[in-house]
Amino acid sequence: MEKIIVSGGNTLQGEIEVSGMKNSAVAILFATILVDGKCVIENLPPVDDVCTSIKILEVMGASVKWLNKTSVEINTKNIIAGKSPDEFASKMRASYYVLGAELGRFGTAYSAKPGGCDFGVRPIDRHIKGFEALGATVEEELMCIRATTENGLVGNNIFMDDISVGATINIILAAVTASGVTTIDNAAREPHVVDLANFLNACGAEISGAGTDMIKIKGVRELTGVTYAIVPDMIEAGTYMIAGAVRIGNHLKITNVIPKHLESITAKLIEMGVNVEEGDDYVIVSRTEPLKPINVKTLPYPSFPTDMNPQICVLLTLAEGNSRLIEGVWDGRFKYTEELIRMGADIKVNGRSAVVTGVKKLTGARVRACDLRAGAAMVIAALATDGMSEIEEIYHIRRGYDNMEAKLRGVGADIKAINIPDIFGINGLLSNENKCV
Ligand code: EPU
Repeated sequence: MEKIIVSGGNTLQGEIEVSGMKNSAVAILFATILVDGKCVIENLPPVDDVCTSIKILEVMGASVKWLNKTSVEINTKNIIAGKSPDEFASKMRASYYVLGAELGRFGTAYSAKPGGCDFGVRPIDRHIKGFEALGATVEEELMCIRATTENGLVGNNIFMDDISVGATINIILAAVTASGVTTIDNAAREPHVVDLANFLNACGAEISGAGTDMIKIKGVRELTGVTYAIVPDMIEAGTYMIAGAVRIGNHLKITNVIPKHLESITAKLIEMGVNVEEGDDYVIVSRTEPLKPINVKTLPYPSFPTDMNPQICVLLTLAEGNSRLIEGVWDGRFKYTEELIRMGADIKVNGRSAVVTGVKKLTGARVRACDLRAGAAMVIAALATDGMSEIEEIYHIRRGYDNMEAKLRGVGADIKAINIPDIFGINGLLSNENKCV
C-alpha cells in the first residue's frame, strides 16, 4: 500500500518554494475550452487533479503538449461537446467546470457528477440555478448533469443565496461569451476567482469586479489564446507556514507566495505566538515560544480558509489551553480529528464546532489521510512528534500537493513516500513530452 512514513522530531530549517495554485489551475485549464486557439499555461502545479483535468481535455479532443514540468500548451480547437469522460470527471471536483465552459462555447454540455474530497453532501444547486438564469435547461440525473440552450445564453443578474467558489467560477465561464451583461451578486472573492478572471480578460473577456462580491461580465464574441502564469497556491503556502510553526526551533522561509493572500493565516499564527515576517514574495515563519490557544472560524475569503482547518487544528492541539475551531463552510470537515486523537490530541467535536485542549505532545501513529488537506495535516502532526508515523490513503495528498515529501525533506524532515504509482507519468514529464496521459 502507498503511504508516507515520517520519523518526527527533526527541526525544520530552510526554504520551501510554493507551486502554482491547484484550484486556480483546474479552473483555468477548463476555461481554455472557450478559447479559439492555443494557450500556454505556466506555473501549473504537477499534481493529480491538474493531470486529471488535462486528461479530460485530451479525451474531449484537445491537443496538449507539456513544455516543461509546470507549463503546458493547449489547443482546444477540435474539442467535441459532451465528451468529458466519466471515469476521470468523477475523480475530482473541478471537472464540473466543463459544464460552464461547454455551455459557453457549444450551447450544450455534459459532465459526470464530480468527485473530490468527502465533506458530506456537496450540492450543485447554485451552479444549476446560475446556468438556468442564463437561459439553459439543466437536467441533473443520478450520475451526470446535462445542460442545453436553444437560442444561446443571455446575460442576467444572478444573486447567489450563499457564497460558492465553484458556482461563481462556473457562471463566469458560461457568461463570458453570452449575449449581454451578467452580474453575480454575493460572488466568491477567492484569489482563484480573480486569477480565472485575469486569464479570461487576457484572452479578450470583459470581466470586472473579480475579488469583490459583485462581478460583472460583459459577453464577448470570442476569446483568443494567450500565455498565462497561475498564481501561487495560498493553501500550500499556509500548510508550510503551519509546518514552520509546529516545533520550537523551526525556521522556514516560504517563497513564491503572495503575502496578501495569506493575511488571515498570518494573523492567526501571530495570535498564537508564532513569528511571521513578510517580504514581497515570501514569508518567514519561526517559533521560539509556547503556542497560545485561540479561536478560529473558517469562512470564505478573505476570512480564514476552510482548506486550512485541519492544519491549524494540529497547532491548536499543541497550544497551552483550550481553543475553539468553528467550521463555517463544510458540514463534514472534522472527520480527520479522529486520526489526530489517535496521535494523542484532545479534541471534542460537536457538529461544526470543535473544542481543542492542548496536550504536551503528540505521539507517532498509523493514521489515514481522510481528504486532501487532512492528509497534509497528518504529515505536519507527524513532524511534531518524536516518533514514527505512517500515513495511509495518501492519494488524497497527491491530488493537490506538488511533491510534499521532497519539499519537506529539503528543509530537514525525515519523510519518505513508498509505493507511489506514477499514474500520470509526472516523474517523467521533463524527459517525455506529452506524458501526462
Ligand atoms: N454549496 C451548495 N450548493 C452549491 C455549491 C455549494 O450548497 O451549488 C455549499 C457547499 O455544500 C459548501 C459551500 O456551499 O457548504 C461552499 O462550497 P463551494 O461551492 O464554495 O466549494 P467548491 O467550489 O465545491 C472550492 C474548493 C474547495 C474549497 C471550497 C471552499 C475547488 C476545486 N475546490 O470547492 O477546495 O474547500 O471551494 O473554499 O476550488 C481543497 O482544495 O482541498 C478543496 C476542498
